Amino acid sequence: MLNFTYHVPTRVVFGKGSLDKLGRELSCLGDSLLFVYGQGSIKKTGLYDAVHQILKKQQQVRYRELAGVQPNPRITSVRDGIALCKEHGVTGILAVGGGSVLDCAKTIATGVFYPDDPWEMFLKGDSTIQRALPVGAVMTFAGTGSEMNGNAVISNEQTSQKLAIHSDLLRPAFSLLDPTYTITVPRDQTAAGVVDIFSHILEQYFSPTQETFVQDRLAESLLNTIVHYGPVTLNEPHQYEARAQVMWTSSLALNGLLGYGKLSDWATHAIEHVLSAFYDVTHGVGLAILTPAWMQYVCEPKTRERFVTYAQNVWGITGTDADHVATQGILKTQEFFTSLGMPTRLRDIGIHNERLQEAAKSAVAFGDIGKFKKLGYRDVLTILQNAY
Ligand code: NZQ
Ligand code: ZN
Repeated sequence: MLNFTYHVPTRVVFGKGSLDKLGRELSCLGDSLLFVYGQGSIKKTGLYDAVHQILKKQQQVRYRELAGVQPNPRITSVRDGIALCKEHGVTGILAVGGGSVLDCAKTIATGVFYPDDPWEMFLKGDSTIQRALPVGAVMTFAGTGSEMNGNAVISNEQTSQKLAIHSDLLRPAFSLLDPTYTITVPRDQTAAGVVDIFSHILEQYFSPTQETFVQDRLAESLLNTIVHYGPVTLNEPHQYEARAQVMWTSSLALNGLLGYGKLSDWATHAIEHVLSAFYDVTHGVGLAILTPAWMQYVCEPKTRERFVTYAQNVWGITGTDADHVATQGILKTQEFFTSLGMPTRLRDIGIHNERLQEAAKSAVAFGDIGKFKKLGYRDVLTILQNAY
């Protein structure tokens, strides 16, 4: 195991009625708030009105709104938010919505202090992030894990890039997680969230670091949970327990728990972010297509043992032929995504063969990707072609 510092300062209030705690939690955001939300789902579900009522009751608190944050949030929304913060002396940000809303809020929170255009942070790297306003979240979607982590992923339409920043300063001060809010998420988006959670676990499970027994068994438990409860959220969308299991798994999958003490891969995410940037693909849909293609490509004699353990412990596959067991595990993964209604080929989601080279180039623009197996341009291109 590698050395690490474990620091997850987010206060998580989990369960039905957690919004009742919002008034109390808001005190850490100061007296001038920016209330950030998406394209209207919270208005339809009544959550907007509920938050509005709570904010109005805070006697000393003023607030402004930033509405309309898009899925695959854009740097333009971040710029708008920063301008509002500067104009109104904002002291903290409240994000109400999914990962896109929260990622936008986090980027605004640090962008306020950034001396340059906020996109520069994504190009220059995490070490340039020195300060951030506190952010609180009311989550309505299970998938990204943004509610407990320090990541923010933002798209730039002008440069066709989708890039991430990471800093402990961006971990939310609090996150209210009420699984009942996720019941209204459309079926295809719920499935995309399930794939995203599954992929976050795999990206950390496939690691070159040896002796990671505790991380591996934790990861397998979370994968088992998703395999069990993911389909229930689709077949019985109102079942609270399934929504709760998936929502908490989403947070645990990417709050650091699985990744501390080891290297993680993240090549599939790096490739998917390019597809999202080029084609505005839903993140989980891109991952559902790319993950089996990545697995098939990197499964070779040197890496096979990990695939065998995965096939045995997650899918219950038995047998003495290691090659067969490993292949069955990959097949099961693909079948699982298909059972959730996910497409299997890039061509089925409007991606053009002619841009695969450009996409591969963009995925390795900052150098080779992947820690479990290092991938360069040719490797990425082959994975994209195999997934096409
Ligand atoms: O915009 P609104 O109207 O709110 O609608 C959203 C959006 O259309 C809707 N939605 C959310 N909650 C709902 C709901 N509809 C009905 N009822 C509800 N309760 O769902 C759609 C998708 O929302 P979005 O926030 O985009 O989904 P998600 O949480 O999956 O976030 C995806 C973004 O996060 C990034 C992805 O790349 C993508 O940009 N990621 C962030 C990560 C992180 N911060 O750690 C890690 C991930 O790997 C990922 O890259
Ligand atoms: Zn993801």
